[in-house]
Order: sequence, then C-alpha cells, then structure tokens
Amino acid sequence: MSRTPAVNGERLLARLAAFAAIGATPKGGVDRQALTAGDREARRLLADLAAARGFAVLQDEAANLFVRREGTDPSLPPLLLGSHLDTQPKGGRFDGTLGVLAAFEVLEALEDVGARPARAVEAVAWTNEEGSRFQPGAFGSQAFAGGTIPSEWREAQDRDGMRLSDELRATLAALPQAKSRPLGIPLAAYLELHIEQGPALEAEDVAIGAVTGIQATRWLEVSFTGRPAHAGTTPLAFRRDPLVAAVAVLGELHRSIMPADGDARLTVGRIAAEPGSINVVPERVAFTLDLRHPDDARLAAIDATVREICARHAAAAGCRMEVTVLSNMRSAAFPESVVTLVETAAARSGLSCRRIVSGAFHDALFLSRVAASGMIFVPCRDGISHNEAEDVAPAASIDGATALLNAAVDYLEL
Ligand code: GLV
Ligand code: MN
Ligand code: MN
Ligand code: MN
Repeated sequence: MSRTPAVNGERLLARLAAFAAIGATPKGGVDRQALTAGDREARRLLADLAAARGFAVLQDEAANLFVRREGTDPSLPPLLLGSHLDTQPKGGRFDGTLGVLAAFEVLEALEDVGARPARAVEAVAWTNEEGSRFQPGAFGSQAFAGGTIPSEWREAQDRDGMRLSDELRATLAALPQAKSRPLGIPLAAYLELHIEQGPALEAEDVAIGAVTGIQATRWLEVSFTGRPAHAGTTPLAFRRDPLVAAVAVLGELHRSIMPADGDARLTVGRIAAEPGSINVVPERVAFTLDLRHPDDARLAAIDATVREICARHAAAAGCRMEVTVLSNMRSAAFPESVVTLVETAAARSGLSCRRIVSGAFHDALFLSRVAASGMIFVPCRDGISHNEAEDVAPAASIDGATALLNAAVDYLEL
C-alpha cells in the first residue's frame, strides 16, 4: 500500500444525495419503506456501484445485501461494516443510509490506494431495520444472528395486506446478479456508523459518539373490544365503548410511566377505532406501545404496570382486552475492546469523542450476539430523526466515515 486510505468526502456526499432522491418526499425527507419498489431501487444502485468497482455482490435469504472486497486470505472471516437502506414512511436522508454509504466508502478508500488486508471487508445493507411496514424491525440482522427467519415473520402483513414473504421474494428477484450466500456467516467483527438521532452530541459540540450499548425495546399492540352501537340512541348505561377504555389508559400511562422514571420511554405511534364510522360506538380500538429502558428488568416491570392499567380500565368499560407482543429486544453492551477501537480511531482522526448509550435500536444490537460489535454516532441537527427534517452537516457525515475508516484500518492492522 503506497498511500494511506482516505475518505473522499465529495464522493460520499454525492452518494448521499443520489440515495436521498430514491423515495424523496416533497418536504425533503425520504419514504423508502422496507421491501417496496423504492427499497429495491436503492439496492440496485448499491449493487451497480459495487460492480463498477469490481466488488462482489451477495445476498442471503433475508435479502441482506453484502458488497465484498476480497482480502489476501479468503478463508478469514470478514470485517463487516454497514447499516440499513429502508426508511420510516416519513423518514430522513441519513438514518441508516449514512452507515451503508460510509461502509461502502471504506471499501472504495481501500481500493483507491490498493490496500491489501488479509481479511475481506464487506459493506452490508440489512433488510427492514425500521419495522414500520412489517414487524419486527431489525428483521434482517435478527435473522442473520439467529440463522433463520421465523415462520411468523414471513406471514407478517403490512396495512394493505401485502405479505412479507411475497415482498421478500420479489426483492430477492430484483437483484438476479447477486450471488446467494447462507444466512449467518462467521464474522471477525461488525461496526455500524449511524446518526445519533438525539440531541446530546450536538449540544455538547462533540464530533463522535463511541457507543457503549443499546437500551431495551418492547413493542406491544393493545386492543379493547366492546359492543358496536348506534351513536344517537344508545344511553351511557348501555354502552361498552372501547374508546373510553383506551382514553383512560393512555391518560394514565402518559401521566405515570415517564414522569416517574427519567430513563423510561413510552410512545403510542398508532391508534385506530373500528369500524371507524362517525355515528357508530366503536367495536374495537387498538393502539401500539413502544416501550424502552436501558435496564431490562425495569422494562419488564413497566410492561407489567402497563398490562395492569389496561386490564383495570378494560374491566371498568366492560370491554375485552388483548395484548400482543410485536417485538422484544433485550439491551446490549458492546465489548470494551470495540468501544476503545472507536475512541482511538476518533483521536487519530483528530475528532472529539465521548461515550454514549443508544436510545434507538440498531442492527448492531443483534450482531453483538454473534460477533464483536460496536457503533459510531455522529450528531444530527437539533437531535431530530424519524422526521423528514432530519439533517446532518456535510462535515459530520465525512467525520463519521473517517472515524469508521480509521477504525477499520486499525482493526485490519494496515
Ligand atoms: C429504530 O428505528 C428505533 O425505533 O429505534
Ligand atoms: Mn436507523
Ligand atoms: Mn430509524
Ligand atoms: Mn433504527
């Protein structure tokens, strides 16, 4: 290797703009939910960029997409870098995409200078990290870490009744040039660059977050079923209205859970009344609950409290209650060796750095169960994410990619 590998900032920013155009929304965000036509187009673009540089393109049965730059010893497990290309329905341009494109930039930076590490380096785009269209989220990385796709995940339907298994098949078929590989190959290590999606790094003017772990997440769907009735003729004593139960539950949950525990997070992102007619007392009301806590035991206790509150108000309204677990993710702690690798890479890149716990879940949570894993965060404007207004300063994207490259170079002993 004659020169030190370096991030080409202009190239990275141009790529970010090209991917932001796929599923672009009028308000400057991106709608590229998992396994849609837009997701397939983004995958095709990544595969084309890979082919143009002579890198191999592979996918597994979960449609996780890998770009591989071979090492001098193909028998060694690869260093894997990446994130996801799917977005929220009204998502931003950087959540996930920055991590995939920075990983690809690392491969290109190594190629630019003819670096010849012993082990292969791969960039991966995991399938359906967001979980907004099909639950659970982090579908691809969970399947990779578990070595299988559970049958109930294949049966998952989106809100238009489209089945995940059909959309997965069509997505796999959209890249006929990709070589198939088994789910869950051995890895040397996994690193993921991501935007912080919160306000801490920007507020403290710190360039890099060395992520020490990820808090636990539990997604529930709660439904109350009562008796549909005529809005005009049914007196109070004759009503079994599930919306009455839901309103009481949501009020109590919002008054109690987060105010009592500064580390707890509770979000109701979706609520629906059926049949949804203006002059019918609803038959059923269902809402989702996104619960988070850094401590697994505390999250379990919050889950129990939620169920107690739901049961009490369901009984008071004469309704039947059902609680379904849509997703359950235990917390993860990244190994000290990987956190230190990130800190050292930040220092070598001349970037300020501090340790941080991730409030969002990420594919790295599941990779950490099968390989030494870690994450690098960069600040985003006003801490805003899962919002079309999500924004990252060009210099911050380049800083993040530089820290990722230097961590990879250290790891590969180049
Ligand atoms: C992932 O997008 C999360 O909700 O943390
Ligand atoms: Mn993300
Ligand atoms: Mn996200
Ligand atoms: Mn996420």
